[in-house]
Amino acid sequence: MEIIIQSDAVAASRASARLVARLVREKPNAVLGLATGSTPLMLYKEMIRLHKEEGLDFSRVATFNLDEYIGLEKDHPQSYYTFMWENLFSQINIKPENVHLPDGMAKDVPASCAAYEQAIIAAGGIDLQVLGIGSDGHIGFNEPTSSFASRTRIKTLTQQTVQDNARFFDGDESKVPHHCITMGIGTIMDARMNLMLAFGAGKAGAVAATVEGPVCAMMPASILQHHPVAKVFIDEAAATALQLSDYYRWIYAGKPEWQRDA
Ligand code: GLP
Repeated sequence: MEIIIQSDAVAASRASARLVARLVREKPNAVLGLATGSTPLMLYKEMIRLHKEEGLDFSRVATFNLDEYIGLEKDHPQSYYTFMWENLFSQINIKPENVHLPDGMAKDVPASCAAYEQAIIAAGGIDLQVLGIGSDGHIGFNEPTSSFASRTRIKTLTQQTVQDNARFFDGDESKVPHHCITMGIGTIMDARMNLMLAFGAGKAGAVAATVEGPVCAMMPASILQHHPVAKVFIDEAAATALQLSDYYRWIYAGKPEWQRDA
């Protein structure tokens, strides 16, 4: 894993956006895996800026989102579909037919999940997967004890995640769906690159356990230790529990120029 510690979330988001931009310039039909939550918002803002000011072209890019709540219509204000259109897709030149999210209203959930996996394969696989991390170490909605071999499927949120996400539902936990469809950990591990973002002191414990702890189903993100190209962009606050933070800074400072946005 490569740990990139930046002074703040803006700097870390910009650094991660440079990786996305480099991929899209080199491979105009790149397949991006995207995440929701507050963490990737600055990355998406920077992608929008790169599109508007530097002509970054998303016209051939395809996207697959990690997850969606079950039971929310697409146009529900808190659906991840709405989130993605409001915060990214409506402001770049992506084609609606190239955008994919799990269908939270699917009548046949297992069939819809299998079709999602097939669509990822048909698109050529995910080149770069953006990840946030839950306070309990979840990625997508793969809660603790999720199988490392899991594929897209239905999951039940933990009570902690329901509490954490209530802030998006007027602070009312009773409004948060308890079920979701999420890409599996196996799906995420198939991406050619994983790019995790984590900001703030509330994520410091999960980040340290992910990067330096044992690989363990209780900390789903720790499986990224087994991924060949996993990059973790964090701010100073999220780095406070890392034992080897000085080493990660030393590595980054000594990177040759050609490797910086690689
Ligand atoms: C949700 C999403 C995750 C996200 C997590 C953290 O549970 N399903 O993909 O990483 O929230 O959210 P935040 O970035 O708001 O802390």
